[in-house]
Amino acid sequence: MTPIYQTSTYVQEAPGKNKGYEYARTQNPTRDALQNNLAALENGNYGLCFSSGLAATDAIIKLLNAGDEAISSDDVYGGTYRLFNKVFERFGIRSKFTSLTNAEELKKHIGSKTKMLWLETPSNPMMSIIDIEAVTKIAHQSDILVVVDNTFASPYLQNPLEFGADIVIHSVTKYLSGHSDLVMGAIVTNQEGIYEQLKFLQNACGAVPSPHDCFLALRGIKTLHLRMQRHCENAEQVADFLESHPKVEDVYYPGIPNHPNHEIARNQMRGFGGMISFTLKGNHMEDALQVLSGTKLFSLAESLGGVESLIGHPASMTHASFPKEDREKRGLLDSLIRLSVGIEDAEDLMADLEQAIG
Ligand SMILES: Cc1ncc(COP(=O)(O)O)c(C=O)c1O
Repeated sequence: MTPIYQTSTYVQEAPGKNKGYEYARTQNPTRDALQNNLAALENGNYGLCFSSGLAATDAIIKLLNAGDEAISSDDVYGGTYRLFNKVFERFGIRSKFTSLTNAEELKKHIGSKTKMLWLETPSNPMMSIIDIEAVTKIAHQSDILVVVDNTFASPYLQNPLEFGADIVIHSVTKYLSGHSDLVMGAIVTNQEGIYEQLKFLQNACGAVPSPHDCFLALRGIKTLHLRMQRHCENAEQVADFLESHPKVEDVYYPGIPNHPNHEIARNQMRGFGGMISFTLKGNHMEDALQVLSGTKLFSLAESLGGVESLIGHPASMTHASFPKEDREKRGLLDSLIRLSVGIEDAEDLMADLEQAIG
């Protein structure tokens, strides 16, 4: 097994002559093993790990300069929106959030200052699907760098570099580590120039993960394929159950044939993942809160992608940083409930939802 190199510095042979490692912010052998592993999973040449998914996002946005603009799909993770809007805006990097489920719409938003396109597909929490290949072709005509947050799909279900994307980012915290026991981010790219810039930022800004967390992530990844198969099987059953429930209004799951971009999901993914959102008839916040506090197997918690099922309320939890008006424009209603379907017994999960929804 990969050893945990629990070291901050490395003995050097002579001044200016090291054995490949100098200082652990810059390189660490356990992190190297994980970085190579993640690159291989995404069919990429280069991997870099960060102390959180947002630290990885932060490094990517730092590829831009003051005056540049980014376009992002509109229902991205709330923290991504907050970083663009509340942090980088102050440093002169502007961002525009728009629906990209129709690829052609992108053309309307590209200007001379647009330098980055940020996609999240499936998206959080509306499970929208973006055609990665179609938007990438449009973006590349204007030399725009395409970044795909592949957290929800995991590399087991989708490899954005194969559709032309320049950079893939993950919150390793989620499916990759899989056991809700660490916080980490990762970036994979095929382009040496981009890798060199990001590696510089990883060291210069310093948001690196601990060797122990790298070991845990490597251990989690060993079962990624098994876990993802079960997440997908369970989520398909839970989505069917919710679709036929009399108190449920809408179910958002890319595996449902009437999902607006089901065909695109079918083409670019090898399965539909473990994440489902749904709304309740009448759209009352109190009804949603009752479901959220009524489940026994689904634990009420932020995050996703672990083996245990979680239930969450985007409007008050993950997406509280979006203004209510913006939330509702995106379909993120007060009664919207998000499920991270785990790998437990599917019948038990459905019985739990049945008793909580009532
Ligand atoms: C899709 C997505 N991207 C990025 C992040 C940020 O990752 P982290 O929490 O590891 O910083 C999250 C976190 O929930 C997420 O869901």
